[in-house]
Amino acid sequence: MRRRDFVQVGLAVAAHAALQVPATHAAAPSRRIPYGSAVRGDALVDDYDYRTVLAEHCQLVVPEGGLKWVVVRPSEDRFDFYEGDKLLAFADQNGMKMRGHTLIWHGAMPDWTSSIRGAEAAEKAMTKHIHTVVGQYKGRIPSWDVINEAIAEDPRGSDYLRPNLWLENMGKGYIETALRLAAEADPQAQLVINEYDIECVGEYYENRRNALLRVVRDLRDRGAPIHAVGFQGHLKGQYEIDKEGVSSFVAELKAMDVDVLVTELDVIDNLLPADEKKRDQVIAVRVTDLLEAISDANPPTAILTWGITDRYTWVPTWFTRDDGRLNRPLPLDRDYKTKPMMDAIKRFAARA
Ligand code: XIL
Repeated sequence: MRRRDFVQVGLAVAAHAALQVPATHAAAPSRRIPYGSAVRGDALVDDYDYRTVLAEHCQLVVPEGGLKWVVVRPSEDRFDFYEGDKLLAFADQNGMKMRGHTLIWHGAMPDWTSSIRGAEAAEKAMTKHIHTVVGQYKGRIPSWDVINEAIAEDPRGSDYLRPNLWLENMGKGYIETALRLAAEADPQAQLVINEYDIECVGEYYENRRNALLRVVRDLRDRGAPIHAVGFQGHLKGQYEIDKEGVSSFVAELKAMDVDVLVTELDVIDNLLPADEKKRDQVIAVRVTDLLEAISDANPPTAILTWGITDRYTWVPTWFTRDDGRLNRPLPLDRDYKTKPMMDAIKRFAARA
């Protein structure tokens, strides 16, 4: 890309509401599987190199926080689309598509929502939110994480859903209601249920895959609009991918005509070797194993990492290393240099 193009990208971001800047370059060459990244709104404005690598590598972007309730809903009456619009302008300028994350999640809820009580009030609040937010971007955000992290941490028996405002007030049907509301607001959008800890070996992961299958089966039986399951893919680097388990899970979804995608890939490396070369190798193996296991049954419709550079990652918030070394969970290092993880993703995306 020419230097002048980057400057225009910067202008488009800084003044996205006021400036109509022509597209800076043609869409990236089409790959069989589009790759993308979560984006931080502040870094998008402040960091020229960050914008540059996003434009260079990504066909997709998703806001890391910019479309969560806590940002979009400062109060019951207000909707704030500043962050969403800013990222969409950047995506448009650079020939990328944007995903929406997320409509229904227990996390990142503003305090005022804790006063929502009763089935009627909850459904009213859900309807207003989903209709307004999905409606705002109708035809412009082709894929939405409608439901995020709905499975209980340790699903057992009838307690397989995670408690949240919606479950408490509306019961289990809240998932179907949310999906139907999203379909009403944008009938063309891919509607996704997004989940973590469904990738690795062990009973904990297996139980979580089974609980999720149960949710999807139930939705399909009821004719609800569910198009795909998102593997968040926050992989704990010390655990192996359950290749067989993942493949058969994806095959079961495929049999129900439900696609899969990878939505938040990173490899949590606090328990991996200190040596960076070795660490990066394990990380690339985990990523390859997951992508292959999925593809053996049905190739993912997209692959997104939860950030593109180790400079901006949520991982150290929870998983700092005891030896004081910095985390390396993402495809580019802190200086934007390509790591084996990026090579693994690109190889995979191109080959598929
Ligand atoms: C995280 C962001 O990365 C953090 O910056 C924020 O403080 C909290 O949320 N699963 C999800 C994401 O679906 O929305 C979370 O993102 C990470 C776990």
